[in-house]
Amino acid sequence: MKDTKMQKIEATSLEAQSANVAADNLAQLKALFPELVTEGPNGPAINMDVLKALVGDATVTDAEEKYGLNWHGKRAARQLALTPSTGTLRPCPDESVDWETTKNLMIEGDNLEVLKLLQKSYAGKVKLVYIDPPYNTGKDFVYPDNYQDNIKNYLELTGQAEGGQKISSNTEASGRFHTDWLNMIYPRLKVAKSLLDPAGAVMVSCDDNELSRLRIVMDELFGEENFVGQVIWQRSKKGDAKLIATVHEYIVCYVRDKAAVLAQGVWRLPKEGADEVLAKYTELKAELKSDHQAIRPAMMEWYRQLPEGDPRKSHKHYNWSDDRGLYFAADFAGPDDGRESRPRHDILHPTTGRPCKKPSTGWRWDEDKTNWALAQVPPRIHFGPDETTIPTRKSYLFEIDSEPFSSVFYRDGRSATLEVEELVGKGWFQFPKNTDVLAELIELTTKPDDIVLDFFAGSGSTGHAIYKVNAAHGSKRRYVLVQLPEPTGKEQFKTIADITRKRLREASAKLKRSGGAPLGDLGFRVFKLDHSNIRAWNPSPADLEATLFSHQDHLLDGRSENDVLYELLLKLGLDLCVPMERRTFDGKVVHAVGRGVLLACLSTTIASHDVEALAHGIVTWHDELAPAGDTTCVFRDSAFADDVAKTNMAAILHQHGIVNVRSL
Ligand SMILES: C[S@@+](CC[C@H](N)C(=O)[O-])C[C@H]1O[C@@H](n2cnc3c(N)ncnc32)[C@H](O)[C@@H]1O
Repeated sequence: MKDTKMQKIEATSLEAQSANVAADNLAQLKALFPELVTEGPNGPAINMDVLKALVGDATVTDAEEKYGLNWHGKRAARQLALTPSTGTLRPCPDESVDWETTKNLMIEGDNLEVLKLLQKSYAGKVKLVYIDPPYNTGKDFVYPDNYQDNIKNYLELTGQAEGGQKISSNTEASGRFHTDWLNMIYPRLKVAKSLLDPAGAVMVSCDDNELSRLRIVMDELFGEENFVGQVIWQRSKKGDAKLIATVHEYIVCYVRDKAAVLAQGVWRLPKEGADEVLAKYTELKAELKSDHQAIRPAMMEWYRQLPEGDPRKSHKHYNWSDDRGLYFAADFAGPDDGRESRPRHDILHPTTGRPCKKPSTGWRWDEDKTNWALAQVPPRIHFGPDETTIPTRKSYLFEIDSEPFSSVFYRDGRSATLEVEELVGKGWFQFPKNTDVLAELIELTTKPDDIVLDFFAGSGSTGHAIYKVNAAHGSKRRYVLVQLPEPTGKEQFKTIADITRKRLREASAKLKRSGGAPLGDLGFRVFKLDHSNIRAWNPSPADLEATLFSHQDHLLDGRSENDVLYELLLKLGLDLCVPMERRTFDGKVVHAVGRGVLLACLSTTIASHDVEALAHGIVTWHDELAPAGDTTCVFRDSAFADDVAKTNMAAILHQHGIVNVRSL
């Protein structure tokens, strides 16, 4: 017979935990090699002798000389990434924009805890992680992770709890300068990796302070084979320095799995200005009745009058045309690699019939490819007036109107600062990132419905960039931003998270005011990190009676129904923007989340005579919703008048196919 009892969710229950990555890893290893997992003093453990036997010579020796980067605290940092979080994310509709409809998230909190809490709902779903962490300049604040109670530590540090310590920066004098930074970045990147889609990318901004260490850490976490590029972003034209003026920083890019990324296609950006050039060409072609001799000087004249620096002008070599389109006469010579074996076949001039002059390095194409190109109508080879001019290849603009992102580019920082100043005021945020650059990275690596995560959100540039991309392309990309409520010491915006929200709100309002085409989702839901709503069972031996009494209702005081509901969502692995509905049965509010995947009645009292009407209301609604998977139904444990009421509720629901019935 099935157990129809209502199971209580305790702070230690699986449902109350964020993902336990270590336990999952152990389970996977056990499934592959059952003999590997044995009983240790603290539960299941790996038998190292069996592991060595399984992989033979491929085990790392215990010798001290191992390849890799090591620092004090690395083991603890790795462990920290695996420890489940005891926190929750509390919804803040009042600080949000378009709470009911938006799918964007702005989460206030320490990003390591938040990333852990997001594991169940977003593992494998994020297409791009872009982060701009503190560069470790000696003035940055690097938040120390306290292994004992990270959330308590976080609340104190950010001045949200009693006895808040003063936030201090990571100075070179601390003697643990790189160590502190590595202990900060390592677990965060490790947890973030599991949120990445297999075809997802991670891009990290940094400068010379930590570049070399960051590369080694990322090689370790993502695999050297998944390194994609180290982009150099020149941010100013000249700098002042005693030796070499550094005028650039970096964006280091890795992917989760290069093969999976390539299976989805190559990363390309539209060539800036190409569409406008092609539009001008079409206009001239109509005007000059496809007379290609006349179109060329007209195109060249148009390019000439464009101002210097105009992106259209960079295509000025596209000035020839034929019936296929506008093209550039590209070099047809083989590369100067000293190879004698380069193709040197004759190419006959179409008018004189004599062999054309050959480049000293031979042709780029072999005879077959040349013949194919000549046989096309119109031919894909461009000839001069007679055989004395070396022929060239026709490279059509419409065929190559996109290009890869280049590993070096220039964009000064001033416009980004002005953009933020215009929205939140002067002097609030130093060195924000340029939203146009971020928009390009987002377009390059994501598709129209993808999720982008930035867990060092700062002024919220990544969210603003998503708004711009969606407005420009009518896409539905979503963002998840995480920002520490780092105190600013000023009244108007008490924390940096306040600045993030202000910027997002203003950016959204500005785009809304601009009107025009459908702008997409310009909202965001605010959540804040806090202790779990479920009270941990810490009996006080001195006053057992009082402890027992306070655990009658093991939900924390002062927490709302919504707080509990969203914790359930997180712990059950549902999207924080999943649709929610509510209905009232027998005066009790019931919430249906994700079209009935979760049904929750968090009413504080359920008397014996309420049970039947409430249960039947839930059952009818459940049938109506017909959820695709199993439904979990949750009540407040202390609400039931007695055990009989609780058992009856579970029994009726079980009878009607709702078998996961839990109380909190
Ligand atoms: C360099 S700024 C990011 C700037 C951002 N890209 C922009 O364009 O505005 C780094 C941000 O990370 C935040 N931060 C530092 N440690 C954090 C942590 N543990 N959790 C969340 N945010 C953190 C800092 O408060 C700071 O705002």
